[in-house]
Amino acid sequence: MKHRIALIGFGNVGQGLAEILLNKEKELKKEYGYEYSVVGISDVAWGTAYNPDGLDIPSLLADVKEKQKFSKDAKNWDSLKLIKESNANVVCELAFTNLETGDPAISHCKAAFETGKHVVTSNKGPAALAYRELKEAADKKGLKFLIEGTVMSGTPVINLMEGPLAGCTISAARGIVNGTTNYILTQMEGGMSYGDALKKAQELGYAEADPTGDVEGYDARGKVTILANVVMGTSLKISDVACQGITKITQEDIATAKAENCRWKLIGSVKKEGEKIIASVAPEKLPLTHPLAGVMGATNAITFSTDLLGDVSIVGPGAGRTQTGFSILTDLLHIHRNG
Ligand code: HSE
Repeated sequence: MKHRIALIGFGNVGQGLAEILLNKEKELKKEYGYEYSVVGISDVAWGTAYNPDGLDIPSLLADVKEKQKFSKDAKNWDSLKLIKESNANVVCELAFTNLETGDPAISHCKAAFETGKHVVTSNKGPAALAYRELKEAADKKGLKFLIEGTVMSGTPVINLMEGPLAGCTISAARGIVNGTTNYILTQMEGGMSYGDALKKAQELGYAEADPTGDVEGYDARGKVTILANVVMGTSLKISDVACQGITKITQEDIATAKAENCRWKLIGSVKKEGEKIIASVAPEKLPLTHPLAGVMGATNAITFSTDLLGDVSIVGPGAGRTQTGFSILTDLLHIHRNG
């Protein structure tokens, strides 16, 4: 079967995915029997393009590079119309993250399920605010709602838990789950100013459209909520997670930590204590000997405490255009194998 993909959002992640699909088209067919066409793209900045037989992706990527609206197969449609009326069988929800209401992403997901389309997303809004509801809506129609890219970009976390680690009970998850802040702290330790490091993180595609979400810890708080609910089976609300970001950490704090053989890290954590769930995001000054102290740049790491294996840690990219683009590809291949 040839998969028909609609991309809702064509920023860093959407473009990263489009580039991967183009570059690996032959390999995907040969190795996995995966064939696709991207039939629709809708983005607030670039407009909507739709062609039921497949869009000319290089031409649309070139438009974006020139900072101009889509010039080929352009339609005067909004994203909901594209989702509902296109012939796509899978919608990749890659629009901006809104951790307050989850919209427009939640509406995009619902519209896809109502019209019989799978959803793959790296958008933390739907996963942190409405995972159960959306998963039920998908299940009812025999569709997939896949969210690997919401935590640690393409580094396997959700799929690891649902695949190889299924059968283990997870009692805690703790780690570095925001690439932007880890990158900023790393650069500041190397002497760069906070402002320059944040600018660089934006250029590299790590930061959110509004980086307040990164530096104030809200992005990490959303991910902790997803880990708690999706991986640990609890029902936590974002507001249940205590949250502090890195904006109060100064160059002086970093230098002092260094002199003490320590390093600041923004740590997200959730653990079950009896019937209670305790979750938080906060900077911690870790000794350099601590395993998380050596995780630098946009790299993330999570340690899961499991009943059958003890602690299991995964370290890998936590953000980035290609890295998050890959998270979408991995879920698209999952649909191909199991959908
Ligand atoms: N802004 C996020 C980060 C992107 O820096 O980790 C990946 O979720």
